[in-house]
Amino acid sequence: PGRPGRPVPGTDFEAVPPNKLDAVTIPEGYDQRVVIRWGDAVEWGAPKFDFRKQTAAAQAKQFGYNNDFVGLIPQDPLGIGNLLVVNHEYTTEVHMFPADQYDPANPTEEQVKIAWAAHGLSVVQTFRDPIGGALRAVPSPFNRRITLNTAFEVRGPAAGSKFLKTSADPTGRKVFGTQNNCAGGVTPWGTVLSGEENVNQYFANAASVTDPVAAARLKRYGFSGAGTTRKWERFDKRWDLAQEPNEANRFGWVVEIDPNDPNSTPVKHTALGRFKHEAANIKITKDGRVAVYSGDDERFEYIYKFVSKGKYKPGKSAYARRHNSALLDDGTLYVARFTGDSPGEIDGTGKLPKDGEFDGVGEWIPLVSGDKSFVDGFTAEEVYVFTRQAADKVQPTKMDRPEDIEPNPVNGRIYAALTNNSDRGAAGKAGVDEPNPRVNNRNGHVLEWDEDRGDSAATKFKWRLLLVCGDPKAADTYFGGFPKEQVSPISCPDNVAFDRHGNLWISTDGNALGSNDGLFSVPVDGPERGHVKQFLSVPVGAETCGPVVTDHLVLVAVQHPGENAASSANPTSHWPDGGTAQPRPSIVSVWKKGRWGQVGRIGVK
Ligand code: FEO
Ligand code: CA
Ligand code: CA
Ligand code: CA
Repeated sequence: PGRPGRPVPGTDFEAVPPNKLDAVTIPEGYDQRVVIRWGDAVEWGAPKFDFRKQTAAAQAKQFGYNNDFVGLIPQDPLGIGNLLVVNHEYTTEVHMFPADQYDPANPTEEQVKIAWAAHGLSVVQTFRDPIGGALRAVPSPFNRRITLNTAFEVRGPAAGSKFLKTSADPTGRKVFGTQNNCAGGVTPWGTVLSGEENVNQYFANAASVTDPVAAARLKRYGFSGAGTTRKWERFDKRWDLAQEPNEANRFGWVVEIDPNDPNSTPVKHTALGRFKHEAANIKITKDGRVAVYSGDDERFEYIYKFVSKGKYKPGKSAYARRHNSALLDDGTLYVARFTGDSPGEIDGTGKLPKDGEFDGVGEWIPLVSGDKSFVDGFTAEEVYVFTRQAADKVQPTKMDRPEDIEPNPVNGRIYAALTNNSDRGAAGKAGVDEPNPRVNNRNGHVLEWDEDRGDSAATKFKWRLLLVCGDPKAADTYFGGFPKEQVSPISCPDNVAFDRHGNLWISTDGNALGSNDGLFSVPVDGPERGHVKQFLSVPVGAETCGPVVTDHLVLVAVQHPGENAASSANPTSHWPDGGTAQPRPSIVSVWKKGRWGQVGRIGVK
């Protein structure tokens, strides 16, 4: 697509320069509106948000904290009515409560219960204004909050496992809540998958578990120490591993929410394995099965793929949704190994090898299929619940923090964001390899691969790095071969999305170049491949999450604006309400102002 020097459809806008503004900054000719903010009403009867008078009962009906993934599920062919599904990844109580009300050493029970209600997901009915362009949230019977008090059904091969049984749930099949829901994906059948990511931080007293096998399992998943920052363990013993060691194993899964059925019981899918799931995104295989890609977001962790046994039934009816959801309960779980084709040439500086690319081949190594384990010394049950340790046995590639992974609907390739890894090449840590070619990788990179025959059921693939991120003036960056003087600086890729034209959109978290985070577009084919352009930037202290890009709408989740402040006593951001207001995580819709007051098309002049 495109001709040299001609912007590719979908990316024809004036790039936003790097900045440190306390605002969402968008290109000339575009407009924006906040769709919904932390504390805004979701369910019927939600009271108006009052920063100084919060209650758990109110928060359980209001939009939760720290919006991350955003899924937009169209309800009509024009995309006017849409269900918005949003993850609420985590809480920071020092920002959520007035400084004179919150003592970090002694949170009140009500404050802890507010935090439980601020986690989870929201489902919100929205309508897009087809003339004006904005997306608006409205009251509706679809509107729903899922919190740490919502019952989940555990499904798949580890449902009922001895590792999942607790005194509150001797069946090992019913868990209250989901937490640290980072990114996710909309399934072809119109439900949402959401990844439980850094769940270790919520559990106290891992250090008091003395059984060596149990202690090693906890350690491999990052559970450590005595008390937690949030101190939830004081108000429910399930957060205390000394009392409920198996509660830890009930988080770290991919969950599925059916937004079309507000009465549905959400599901934890154990067949997809347990690790720090960033997200989960689906591609249908050539023979009609379901492949799910998921990254384990921690330094030196792995990339996984699940392929179902049964076949997908197209459609979004209640019957199709039930059938397809059940596909995620039986299949084969693989972990990825990447092999470079320029061995001996990777020196850690980011210098390209002689063949001009960081590239090579790869394979998917099976870990488990149904009740059959492929890993020596591990039962199938152990592979599902302690997936990281099982994967360690088969030499997968230790990656630089695998974040979002998504299939490109136009060219069929799979794209993964590897956000950063400042420990790459450090003493005692893994050194560089071709898929992770820089020591002290502060800016991250973006990987693409072609499954053999373009089939997501394949066990072999070819890969290459699309971007080696950072300052384009620096020698260690690479933008798909595109002239570097023309690209926007980009650092710490986190979430990815595609527009209808197949352009990749990347949101960033933790910009190591000193400016605010943002959303970037980049064509992946043709002469403009690698031409990164910044579409928007987010306010001070925030990361950019969730991107959704349609013909007429860009949605981003502005997560943790002002989080660089020590507490709410001295806010560093007043976005979105302005003045002296406290910052509030919010969803923002952006659209192009067209001629005669009509909405235009994103990235099309
Ligand atoms: Fe919650 Fe991997 O970002
Ligand atoms: Ca190479
Ligand atoms: Ca993320
Ligand atoms: Ca993040």
